[in-house]
Amino acid sequence: MTKILMVCLGNICRSPLAEGILRSKLPNTLFKVDSAGTASYHIGSAPDKRSIAVANKHGINISQLKGRQFEVSDFDRFDTIYAMDLSNYNNILELARTPNDHSKVRLILNEIYPDAQHDVPDPYYGGISGFDDVYKMLDLACESIANNLTSK
Ligand code: 4NP
Repeated sequence: MTKILMVCLGNICRSPLAEGILRSKLPNTLFKVDSAGTASYHIGSAPDKRSIAVANKHGINISQLKGRQFEVSDFDRFDTIYAMDLSNYNNILELARTPNDHSKVRLILNEIYPDAQHDVPDPYYGGISGFDDVYKMLDLACESIANNLTSK
């Protein structure tokens, strides 16, 4: 079983979408996909209504997901940890205990724009179009991740 963790700040906008999108592209018998936030604001909360709506438009149901905070044991439980932006990437790396922990962390858009260090922008304070844009970026990145994982 290959295990992938998606991480943003609140675990209600970007990372639940990334979780739902990647899960939709992989067989669940071989892959586990989860998400978490580096902050504690939304522990136990459902995803933002706008993320739920954008996912629904594409036939993906994320309404049952619940926010949780990233924890150090996630380094043991997951093979690859994708950060949605550089700030979260740096916050996750601060918790890494070993070079092996460190090596599991990647910036998700580097999957499609290698070494470019692009962020998935935080859509929380904007309108619904920001969520559509985030969906498009994450769909491209997750397509690439799924292709790489399944061609191994
Ligand atoms: P996310 O978006 O990190 O994509 O889940 C945010 C959600 C909530 C907040 C910030 C970003 N907040 O400040 O509450």
